Parts: sequence; structure tokens; C-alpha cells
Amino acid sequence: MAKVFVPKESHVNETRVAATPESTKKMVAAGLDVAVETGAGAGAFIADERYTSAGAKIVDDRRAAFGEADIVLTVGPLNLDELEGVNAECLLIGLLAPLQNLELVQQLANQKVSAVAMELVPRISRAQSMDALSSQASIAGYKAVLLAAARLGKYFPLLMTAAGTIPPAKVVVMGAGVAGLQAVATAKRLGAVVEVSDIRDVVKEQVESLGGKFIELPDLGGGEGEGGYAREMTPEFLAEQRKIVTRHIQVADVVICTALVPGKKAPTLVTEEMVAGMKPGSVIVDLAVGQGGNCALSKPGEDVMAGGVLILGPSNLPAETPIDASQLYARNVWALLAPMLNEGQVTLDLEDEVVDGALLTHAGEVRNAMTRKALEGDGA
Ligand code: NAI
Repeated sequence: MAKVFVPKESHVNETRVAATPESTKKMVAAGLDVAVETGAGAGAFIADERYTSAGAKIVDDRRAAFGEADIVLTVGPLNLDELEGVNAECLLIGLLAPLQNLELVQQLANQKVSAVAMELVPRISRAQSMDALSSQASIAGYKAVLLAAARLGKYFPLLMTAAGTIPPAKVVVMGAGVAGLQAVATAKRLGAVVEVSDIRDVVKEQVESLGGKFIELPDLGGGEGEGGYAREMTPEFLAEQRKIVTRHIQVADVVICTALVPGKKAPTLVTEEMVAGMKPGSVIVDLAVGQGGNCALSKPGEDVMAGGVLILGPSNLPAETPIDASQLYARNVWALLAPMLNEGQVTLDLEDEVVDGALLTHAGEVRNAMTRKALEGDGA
């Protein structure tokens, strides 16, 4: 019977947990022996007793639990100290952010840990229930708009009052992937007028179906790259895009930035000069801040005020909605883990497209090509 350990997350401000009572029940029913660290669910308001009722045992000695576990389930990456205690050949599943944690990746390989990075789950139909990037990005997009609305000194909706009419807030969303589309939907629900800039052709229809207006860019011969993601655009194109977008953000009240290109620094879409041209009192929320930011002035985890424009750089918005973020993440993890189980033991089928894509390290190797390349570039 394989032993699962769900540690309390050690990163500052991480409130999510990788297993819920619901997913614990399923793991126990599948023949797994589940241990949850004391207080692991506290940040998501899940008391230890609820895990016990679901069939898990609560453990205090995390070092021993790491050492005994065949499967470790986490939200964020382990730190190097925690990893030291992990068994060789243990299966680790988490949002490991491999490109931002190259030292950890190398250590995972050295320790022969089989590490599954949830970010690497291929975005194919069969794996939609395992897609933690989407479940968490959607929460981030939603929360970004609420943050902006809470900090904006204006109403979002059009209001006709006895004292006269208040026009609706104008929101510009940069990047309409999962987070951006949820931002569009949320801003529309609050009554704002929403405009969107993206470089992938397919996005236009999705934006319009949510009631947003697509900002047309010069013909770029398709901004779509591998796997449905964006490709890196030339500096000339980005300069042209900034020129067009400037006209829209000059009259905007809120700008939500979500534009990313896999494996690259996020494109700079709002320069210092563009911020200077915005209305005092407007708010920018830069969700790309962890990847270098779409706004030149955003700082991770900080509020920056520039010429009356408030620039927020929240680094972990899903953790500010920990109840639903944990619920969805735990379901994603279980959907990925369940097919790997056979009579309570893990069997990794490397021929399976999902396992093959998501398995970051295995048997001493770093298996993901982009991460391997980054490690080589790093001189590791
Ligand atoms: P992402 O987080 O990598 O990027 C966010 C957005 O930024 C993308 O829409 C991208 O086109 C945009 N972007 C990049 N450079 C830009 C620029 N210069 N200006 C404006 N926007 C820019 O993307 P995310 O949210 O992870 O998903 C991307 C796509 O992946 C989805 O829209 C969808 O097509 C696909 N997908 C497929 C799934 C499935 O089939 N299971 C599930 C989720 C996503």
C-alpha cells in the first residue's frame, strides 16, 4: 500500500493545500495510506479532523513523513531542505515552477525522485481535469479584477442616480488566455466596458463572446506558437503593439496584465512612459509580475504608485482564494494520480502522453527539454 504525504506548505503566504477531505477519501478508497501534516489545511479552513474523518492520519513529524512517503503531494515547490528528506524514487506532484527553480530540479534528478510538474501536463482534451494551470489562472484572473475594483476610486458599473450619471469603468485586459478571459468575464459582470489585446487570432471570438472588444493589431501572420500558446514576438512588433494599446490605456481606469510566452520573459506591454500617460487614480494589476512583468514598473508582491497610477504586482492570487483554489487543485492532482495507480501502488507508464509530458525528473534524468536547456544554459 503506497504511502502518501501531504505536507503543510512552507512558502510564505501559501494558503492552499494539495489534498482536501474529498480527494483524501478517494485516495483512501483507492488503497493509499494517506498522512497529512498537522495544520496542512488550516490556510484553506480545513481542520485536521476533517482529514481524519476522510480516512487520513495526521502527523507532526514532517521529516519522518517525508522519509516514509512513496507519494508527496504539494502545491508549491519543496525547498531544498525538505527535499533532502524525500525518498529516492518517491513520486512528487506539485506546481514546481521548474524554470524558476533550476537548483531544485537538479536536486530532484540527483535524488532520483520522480517529479511531476503540474505545469507540464499537456493541454489535451483527456487531461483537462488535470489542468492546474487553468484552474489556478482562472482564479487569478477573477481575483485581479476584484482587487482592482476594490482599489479603484470609482464605480465599475454605469449608474444613473438622482445626482446624475456615472459612466462605467473602462478596463483593458492584456493577454486573453485563461486568466485574461476570466478577467474579461468578471469585469463585464461588474458592469465595466472591457477591451482586450492579444496576439493569437483565435482569441478575438472568445473575447467577443464574453462581451469584450478586441483591439486589432497589425497582421502578424499568426501569434500562435507550439501547443496553442503564444510565440515570442519581435521587438518591432511589440513596439507597434504598444503604440496601438497606448491610445486605449490612456482613457482606461483599470489595466489587467496577463500576457505570457512559455519559457520566456513576459513581454513588456506597458512602459514607464505609457504609465505616465494614464489617468491619475487608475489601477494596473500585473499578473505577469513573476515572469518579469508586462508593466515596466510592477514589482512582485508590492504596490507601486507612479504619477497617481497604482500598480499592483500580486505574486500568488490563487492563495487569496484558498478554499476554491485548494478544492480545484486537489481535484486536478487526483485526476492525474488516479490513472497511475494499480492496486494501491504507483506505476508510471512513460508511453502515456500525459505522464511523458508532465514527468519533469525520473530515474536521475531531467526529462523536460525546456528545463534541460535552461539547466545547460545555467552551467549546471
Ligand atoms: P499563457 O498564460 O501562456 O498566456 C496568456 C495570454 O497571453 C495568451 O492568450 C497569449 O496569447 C497572450 N500573449 C502573449 N504575448 C502577448 C502579447 N504580446 N500581447 C498580448 N497578449 C499576449 O496562456 P494560457 O492562459 O495558459 O493558455 C493559452 C491557451 O492554451 C488558451 O487560450 C488555450 O488556447 C490553450 N489551452 C488549452 C487547454 C486545453 O485544451 N485543455 C486548457 C487551457 C488552455
